[in-house]
Amino acid sequence: DDGLMTQQRGQWGTRLGFIMAAAGSAVGLGNIWKFPYMTGENGGGAFLVIYMVCIVVFGFSLVMAELVLGRMAQKTPVAAFREIAGRRWSPVGGLAVLTAFVIDSFYVVVAGWTLAYIGFEASGALATTNSETLSATFNDLIGSPIQPILYAGAFTIACAAVVIGGVGSGIERASKLLMPVLFVLLVALVVRAVTLPGAAEGLEFFFVPDFSKVTGETLTAAIGQAFFSLSLGMAAMVTYGSYIPRERNLPADAFAVVSLDTLIAVLAGCMVLPAMFAAGLSPGDGGAGATFLVLPAVFDAMPGGALFGVAFFSLLAVAALTSAVSLLEAVVCYLFDEYGLSRAKATIGSSVALFLLAIPSSLSFGLLAGAKLFGMSFFDLLDYVTSSIALPLGGLLTALCMGWVVGPRAAQALSPAGRSAPRWAAFWLFVLRFVAPLGIGWILVQGLIG
Ligand code: PFF
Repeated sequence: DDGLMTQQRGQWGTRLGFIMAAAGSAVGLGNIWKFPYMTGENGGGAFLVIYMVCIVVFGFSLVMAELVLGRMAQKTPVAAFREIAGRRWSPVGGLAVLTAFVIDSFYVVVAGWTLAYIGFEASGALATTNSETLSATFNDLIGSPIQPILYAGAFTIACAAVVIGGVGSGIERASKLLMPVLFVLLVALVVRAVTLPGAAEGLEFFFVPDFSKVTGETLTAAIGQAFFSLSLGMAAMVTYGSYIPRERNLPADAFAVVSLDTLIAVLAGCMVLPAMFAAGLSPGDGGAGATFLVLPAVFDAMPGGALFGVAFFSLLAVAALTSAVSLLEAVVCYLFDEYGLSRAKATIGSSVALFLLAIPSSLSFGLLAGAKLFGMSFFDLLDYVTSSIALPLGGLLTALCMGWVVGPRAAQALSPAGRSAPRWAAFWLFVLRFVAPLGIGWILVQGLIG
C-alpha cells in the first residue's frame, strides 16, 4: 500500500519545512568555517566570483538532479539508482551512503570542538589576543584523549535525538526553528563586524575581484567548495528528495535552497573577513585554523566580545547540527528502506557505529598523532578519501546517470505530477551530460595528482 508506506517513511509537511531542512543540510561548517578562510587564502573577490559561477553552472543542476532522483523513487539512493537507472547503478547509491557515514564520523569531531568553544568563550578562557595562548588552548583541546570525544559524543546524541523524531516532527521541525535562529545570529554578527573600525578594507577584499591572483588551484578549490557546501555527492540530497511530495514544483524549491546556502556563505564572509582586517590580521592568517585560533582574538578585541564569541560558536554548532542530521538521515533511510529496520533501531545503531569511528579520528590529533597511513593521520585520511575522491566521483557518476540514462524522464519529473518538463530542461540535461562531468572529472584528477 503506497499510502501506508509513505506514512512510515515520512514526508515533508510543508514546502517551507522542506526548504529549511535542505538548507539546514547545505548550510554548515562548510559555509561559516570553511568558506571565509578559503576566500581569504584564494585572493578574495576573484574567488567569490568563481565560486558563484560554479554554484550557478553545476551546483544548481546537480541539486536538482539529486532531489529529482530521490523523488522519482521515493527511496534511499541505493534503491533509487537501482529502480530508476538499473541494477548496475546501485553501487553509486551505496558509495554515497558510505561517504555520508564516513564524513559524518569526522564532522562530529569538529562539531564537538565548536561545543567546547561555546564553553570557553562563556568562561573567559579565550579572553586574550595572545596567539600563543590561543593556540595552546586549541591544541590542548583537540589533543586531549577524553574531552573532545565526549563533546563529539554529546553532539552525536543531539543529532540522533532529532533524527529519531522522524522526517516531519524531528528534522523538519528542528530545522524550521534552528535556521531562523542561525540567520538572526549571523546578521547580528555581520552588523557588528562591518561597523568595526577598519572593516571597509575587509569588504573591499571580499567584493572587489583581483583576477591576477587566480590560479588552477583557485578553480579546483572553488568547485570542491561549491560541492561540499551544497551537500552534493553524499546521498543527503537524494534522501531529502525522497520525502518531497509529487505535487511540488521541484526547481523552485531547489532554487530557494541554493540561494539560501550561497547567501549564508556570503554573509559569513562579511562577518569573518572584515573582523580579521579590523583586528590587523591578513585574510589568509590561520588557514583552516582561523575559526578557532584567530576569531577568539578578534572577539576579545571588540567591545562585548565574549558575548559575540558565545553567539558565534553557538551559530557554528547549530549549522553543524542540521548538516550532520542530514548525513545521519541518509544512513538511517538506507537501513529503513533496504533492511526494514525501524527508525529508532537504525538511528541508535548507526549513531553508535558513527561514534566508534569518531574516536580514532579525534585521537589522531593526540594519542594517535604519530600513526600515519599514506603519510596522513586517520582524520586527514578519511577527509581526503571522502572529500577529494568519493565525493567528486559520486557527483560525476550521478551527473552521467541522470543526464544520459534517466535523461528526459528526469526532466519530466522536475515538474509536478501530470505537467510537462520545464522549457529549459534541455539545457539542464546538457549540463548534466557534458559540463558537470568534465568539470568534476577535472577536480577528481586534480585531487588525485595534487
Ligand atoms: N553542506 C555541509 C556544509 O557546508 O557544512 C556539509 C555537508 C552536509 C556535506 C551534508 C554533505 C552532506 F551530505
